[in-house]
Amino acid sequence: MDKFLINGGNKLFGSIEITTAKNAILPILAGCILCEDKIVLHKCPLYADVVNMIKILKNLGADIKYLTKDAEMENNCDIIIDCSNLKSYNIPHELASVIRSSIFSLGSILGRFKKAKVAYPGGCEIGARPIDLHIKGLRALNVKLTDKHGYIYCEGKDMKGGIVNLDFPSVGATENIILAAVLTKGETKIINAAKEPEIIDLIKFLNSMGAKITGAGTSVITINGVEKLNGCEYTPIPDRIIAGTYLVATLITGGKIDIHNFRPDHNQALLEKLKQTNNKWKIKNDILTVKCDGKNKAISKIETSPYPGFPTDMQAQILALQTKSKGTSIIIENLFETRYKHVPELIKMGANITCKDRTAIITGVEKLYGASVNATDLRGGVGLVLAGLCAEGYTTIENVHHIDRGYYKIEEDLKSLGADIERID
Ligand code: EPZ
Repeated sequence: MDKFLINGGNKLFGSIEITTAKNAILPILAGCILCEDKIVLHKCPLYADVVNMIKILKNLGADIKYLTKDAEMENNCDIIIDCSNLKSYNIPHELASVIRSSIFSLGSILGRFKKAKVAYPGGCEIGARPIDLHIKGLRALNVKLTDKHGYIYCEGKDMKGGIVNLDFPSVGATENIILAAVLTKGETKIINAAKEPEIIDLIKFLNSMGAKITGAGTSVITINGVEKLNGCEYTPIPDRIIAGTYLVATLITGGKIDIHNFRPDHNQALLEKLKQTNNKWKIKNDILTVKCDGKNKAISKIETSPYPGFPTDMQAQILALQTKSKGTSIIIENLFETRYKHVPELIKMGANITCKDRTAIITGVEKLYGASVNATDLRGGVGLVLAGLCAEGYTTIENVHHIDRGYYKIEEDLKSLGADIERID
């Protein structure tokens, strides 16, 4: 069941509740490794990346229970995580290589055990995705690192606070260094830290357990090491990228939907750009209501950049919108060097796009046409879904397991809004 079949042309109507942020709960799950008391996480989503992160915790020896009627994990269930009896500091290749977020478990394993053996991470193939900033940061905390045969070996018995100057405000490297520093004596300063809402959420979670971290959301984060962390209950933030995806989906198909758990403060850059489509929406409390006819004016220029700039994780979705908008749009992808693999697939559907290096130039067309296309990564795959929703005729999308990494049964959600979409063999 790794394909979607979409019969395009239906408008979307109804309401959708945005679930917990993938990129918040992943580092928070890694953070549980630092605590020997029980932790309750509310609204735990079942995205494939989260299920794989839970496998990593279980492999380390964590006891994880699901607060549901039949004690099985279900989407948005509450989970109890008990890391009191961890018996390993090793993340094997078969678990680490499936997701990117295994790499920032390195920081928390080091924080807990002062040693670690972790295989190189995986993640969407959207670029080289090096880990040099992670390694530079851990070395600044006096960790001795060597890597051989695809594993990173760390010796942290002499770990102490230090100053880390990040050449780039890397989300993962910022999270990794925070997690390594929480139980490390002395003061650690991260300069040029990432400011994403998911990092603010991780810091809030850790501080609720007794960590001493300041500067969340700024480019200088300071961590004063503490002896231990205490258990807590926590509800992570909603997923701003899923929220943005449904807003763009409605603009591309037309219709009227209410998006619950919409955090406008997390999506300022996206909302600012979408004003150029000449469509309107209203936000009341945490519900965004968008009503439109599916006609959009092109957005002249979009450049992805670290938060609070335009999010790279919304690039494929907004590019799909531009393929059917009136006018020409320029998109520049500054974060990842090969994050346009959805472009040739959209061209198969009749889109008019030319790509050179990190720049895509899109001239809107009257119609897209259903075709057989291939998902190559999480957000690129979702961009193809959005194109299929408004294309004339049938679109089949292969390899939708990429999409399942960050959306739980997206086809069910879209069907509930009136889309004609099926998951097929
Ligand atoms: C996180 O990836 C997210 N993943 C990505 O979301 C997101 O696109 C990205 O941040 C940027 O916002 C998770 O949080 C699990 P980075 P991460 O380190 O941490 C370079 C999705 O679709 N870099 O901020 O890997 C890197 O090559 C995923 O949900 C180094 O050079 O991103 C890239 O050009 C995709 N050396 C830039 O920094 C390093 O050591 C940003 O990467 C690390 C990164």
